[in-house]
Amino acid sequence: MMNMLLGKKFKKSSFIIFCVICFSSPVKSSDVPIIDPDSRFHPVFSSLGMVVSQERIASEVGAAILKKGGNAIDAAVATGFSLAVTLPRAGNLGGGGFMVIHLAESGETITIDYREMAPSAATTDMFLDTSGEVDNKKARYSIYSSGIPGTVAGLLHAHERFGKLSLAEIIQPAIDLATNGIEVSIDLSSSLATRRARLMKDDGSREYFYKKNGDNYEPGDRLKQRDLAETLKRIKSAGRSGFYRGLTADLIVKEMEDSGGLITHDDLKNYKVVERKPVCGEYKSQRICAMPPPSSGGVHLIQMLNMLENFELEQLGHNSAAYIHVLVEVMKRAYADRSAYLGDPDYYDVPIDRIIDKSYAKKLASKINLSKSTKSSSVFPGLGIDVESLSRKRQYRESEETTHFSVWDSSGNVVSNTTTLNFSYGSGISVSGGGFLLNNEMDDFSSKPGAPNGFGLLGGTANEIEPGKRPLSSMTPTIVFDPEGSPILATGSPGGSTIITIVLQIVLNVMEFNMGIAEASSVPRIHHQWFPDRLYLESGVSEDTKTLLRNMGHEISSRTRIMGSTQSIQKGPNNFLFGKSDPRRQGAGEAIQD
Ligand code: DON
Repeated sequence: MMNMLLGKKFKKSSFIIFCVICFSSPVKSSDVPIIDPDSRFHPVFSSLGMVVSQERIASEVGAAILKKGGNAIDAAVATGFSLAVTLPRAGNLGGGGFMVIHLAESGETITIDYREMAPSAATTDMFLDTSGEVDNKKARYSIYSSGIPGTVAGLLHAHERFGKLSLAEIIQPAIDLATNGIEVSIDLSSSLATRRARLMKDDGSREYFYKKNGDNYEPGDRLKQRDLAETLKRIKSAGRSGFYRGLTADLIVKEMEDSGGLITHDDLKNYKVVERKPVCGEYKSQRICAMPPPSSGGVHLIQMLNMLENFELEQLGHNSAAYIHVLVEVMKRAYADRSAYLGDPDYYDVPIDRIIDKSYAKKLASKINLSKSTKSSSVFPGLGIDVESLSRKRQYRESEETTHFSVWDSSGNVVSNTTTLNFSYGSGISVSGGGFLLNNEMDDFSSKPGAPNGFGLLGGTANEIEPGKRPLSSMTPTIVFDPEGSPILATGSPGGSTIITIVLQIVLNVMEFNMGIAEASSVPRIHHQWFPDRLYLESGVSEDTKTLLRNMGHEISSRTRIMGSTQSIQKGPNNFLFGKSDPRRQGAGEAIQD
């Protein structure tokens, strides 16, 4: 009830403070949250802890773990396992991801890299056909599309290192959801119906996601996932060995062997989680920490903010043509660098410090013409490829179904986690007997220089396929800190190549335009990724603005896109947490510790 009443907008100069009549604890009249009665956007608030994810039940599982005495890491791991049941298109056991954790007590921020690794038998040209062209079907929808899954190892690692409750306590809700079934939502029903042609081709996926007679699940039906429940129980009793060894490993390897796939028992045993230092930078007085390589997200988020620091953005006005122009020019330059310099740091010496150097950003920013778009073909080509030929290539369109969740506990521990199967439902192939889908993350490698991946992204040697290597990612789980070093924002999004620019805009909306998280999450987004040389806009950007942008030389895509689905928590005055699930997609939800 209270949540409905509250909106929030932090103004730099004048805070408008309103007394809120309390209907229930924990809000006391002395702990007055800040509201802006003029705001059209309202967050959910809590004075304790909060979980924000793409699927409401999974958020509630996390919030219940907080209530039970678990910390943010316990709640995140519980939410992660639950999403594997309730959001099968992106939540997963057969995928991978990145977790950024801020620990209140030590003040440390660390990241956990549980990105998939290429199988040991993978080869650089494994997706090239006999004429040397990329076989996109093989890279995206075949048994070869999957990297060695990292999610289970990653979640267990986070829990072992930083959790408080037992594994049994945090994984049991997911087991119960799989065993007892979930009520099929409109969102799940329509997502499965849309993916029907692809999923029905695989025996496992047909069994797990459609009725015995082949019909779709309708809203209100119950979806039980018994094999998935058994896999989760094996993890509960044997930890990592319950997935990477024993029966689950046998089932994965059998799935591979039945179709000539590459992942072996040794690959599963050798899967490694890596703790990495976050990549951090300052934008004005605030500090931003995000995922380092093998994600490109953190590096380019900071690089773009560094370039943007050279402009008076607030004066340009949010989403004015002048503002969008500057953003686009900055995005082109960052994505050009991405194509050349980013890859798995364990295989390629990524020049992180040089890319996030402020003077490098200044140099790049100085090349931006404020009244004219620079053609992508004249922006830092990066690779020795004919960039002119690239703009003609069709960008492949796949629905954007990675998933992010943010968790904040009452002690101030924060988790920002993005996880994925890559495409919606990954490769579409389920492990028969195991009850879970396999990722198609191998398509995030650059199969051939100059050939765009599923998100139209380009790459070269830094991101070529090698055994044991992790494909370059755009996932950008992020935490922002105030000048005293206290966390003030956790955010992240799905969206393939658009993830980095979406997170950039959330950060700018909050830090530069002083929006509350609800407004910051709701206003229209824009995207440019160097190639194709096209500006993507969400609905809500006016025709006048588009005309001004065209006059500056921007080619605006004829397709209005919906971009991402952020799941964010902002810490506000009076220590209240303000959460917002992106309004762009159904089914998401904020859950508070009560
Ligand atoms: O790691 C990456 O960048 C991609 N595999 C993410 C894919 C994605 O976000 C799909 N949709 N939202």
